Amino acid sequence: MSFTLGMVGAGQFAQNFAPLFRAHPLIDDVWVTDTVAGRADALAATYALAGTKASFDDMIADPAIDAIAIFTQRWTHAGLAVRALRAGKHVYSTVPMGIAVDEIGEIIDAVQQTGLVYMMGETSFYNPAAVFGRGKLATGELGRLFYAEGDYVHDMDLGFYDAYKYSGGAGWKATASYPPLLYPTHSIGGVLSVWDTYVTKAVGIGIPDTRGDGVFDRDVSMFDNDVSNATALFEVAAGGSFRTNEFRRVGYPSHIRESRFRYFGTAGSFEQVATAAYWYTREGAQDVSSLVATHASMSVDDPLLSGVAPELRAAFVSGYAPVHDRSRIPAELAALPTGHEGSHHYLVDDFATAVANDTTPPVNAWTAARFTVPGIIAHNSVRRGGERLDVPDFGAAPGAVALRPVSTSTGVGVDTY
Ligand SMILES: NC(=O)c1ccc[n+]([C@@H]2O[C@H](COP(=O)([O-])OP(=O)(O)OC[C@H]3O[C@@H](n4cnc5c(N)ncnc54)[C@H](O)[C@@H]3O)[C@@H](O)[C@H]2O)c1
Repeated sequence: MSFTLGMVGAGQFAQNFAPLFRAHPLIDDVWVTDTVAGRADALAATYALAGTKASFDDMIADPAIDAIAIFTQRWTHAGLAVRALRAGKHVYSTVPMGIAVDEIGEIIDAVQQTGLVYMMGETSFYNPAAVFGRGKLATGELGRLFYAEGDYVHDMDLGFYDAYKYSGGAGWKATASYPPLLYPTHSIGGVLSVWDTYVTKAVGIGIPDTRGDGVFDRDVSMFDNDVSNATALFEVAAGGSFRTNEFRRVGYPSHIRESRFRYFGTAGSFEQVATAAYWYTREGAQDVSSLVATHASMSVDDPLLSGVAPELRAAFVSGYAPVHDRSRIPAELAALPTGHEGSHHYLVDDFATAVANDTTPPVNAWTAARFTVPGIIAHNSVRRGGERLDVPDFGAAPGAVALRPVSTSTGVGVDTY
C-alpha cells in the first residue's frame, strides 16, 4: 500500500533524495520541514513536493503522514528516530544511526515494540565493491572470508569546510570537529554487508590534528575532539578481523572514490584503490575496474545540483556500475540521477517497498546497529589510548529480511538482498 512521507531537514543531502522519494510509485505525497527559515519552502518548490510543516513535532503529530525520513546533522538522528517511531511513524534515517550505544538500543526497543520499519540509508551497502564481494562470496570463489578493509577517506579541504559552514552557521567550527570514528558506517557497512558477522572487539588509534585553524580544537569542539584521522581494528565473531580508516586530513582524491574496500578470502581476494580494482586467485590477477566503475548519469553543472557545494557534486552524479542489476528499480526512479556509486535509487526503493509491503529492509535497525556501534566503541578506544574494548551486539533482525536482486551475473555471481 502506498504511503505519505515527511522529510526532516532540507539541507544539502536532502536535495538528492527529495526528487527520488517524490518519484517512487509507492510514495504518495512528500512533505518537508526544516528549522532554518526558507529551506523547506525552497526544497518543496524545487521538487514540487506536497508542502511544508512548521516543525518536526507538527510533522509527527500529523496522522496523514505515515513515515519520516531524517536528513538532519549527523549527531541528531537517534533522538528524532525514537520520537518518530513512538509517534507511530516508519523511519528512514541518514547515517549514522546514532552516536551513543544507549540511543541505538532505544531505537531497537522502539522498533521491536511498535513493529514499524526502521532503515538506515547506508550507501556503502550498494557500493559496487560490496555488490561484487557479496557475489563472489555467494559463488564460493572468495572461500572463507577472514580479513577485510573498509576506508572512508574524505579530506576536509575537498568540500567539508563549505558543507560544515552551510550546516553549522556561525558556530560551524564547533561542529566540524565531528569525530571521524563516529561516522563509521560507510567503512564498516561496506565490509559487514559482505561478511555476515558482527564485531566483538575494537581497538582505535587517533591522530590529533595539527592544522591549527580552530577546527579539531578541543576547546572549540562540541565533541571535545581533536582527532582528524583515525584507524580501527575490529575482531569479528565469525573468526577474523577487519580494519577501517576514517581520514579527514589526507592527500587523496575523494571526489574520485571516497569509500574503498578490500576482501581477503581463502580462495580469492578483491582489492580496490581510487581508480582501479582487482580480483585475485592463486593463479593470477584480473582487472575488474570496469565492473565496479559507475558511469556519470548527469553533469556536475546540472541545475539540480545547484544546492550542492561544487567540490561535492561528483559524489552525486554517479550512475550504475555493470555489477548493479537495475531491473528492480522503478522506471520513474531510474530516469533520475542517482549518487554515491549508484546507491541512492536502491536505498529509496528498499525503504518504499519495506513500508508498503510491511517487510524488513536489508539495513534494518539491527544491521544498522552492527554498522554503527563498533565505530562508537573504537572512538572510546582512541580516547583511552588504544585500549582493546568489548563491542556490544544487539543481534540480527528477528524474522526474514526481504531479498531482491542487486547484482548482474557479469562474472560475479548473483547477489540478492
Ligand atoms: N553517503 C551518505 O550516506 C551521506 C552523504 C552526505 C550526507 N549524509 C548524511 O545526511 C545528513 C544530512 O547531511 P547534510 O549535509 O544535508 O546536512 P545539512 O546540515 O546540510 O542539512 C541538515 C538540515 O537539517 C535541518 N535540521 C536540523 N535539525 C532539524 C530539526 N529538528 N527539524 C527540522 N530540520 C532540522 C538543518 O536546519 C539543516 O537544514 C547527515 O547526517 C549526513 O551524515 C550521508
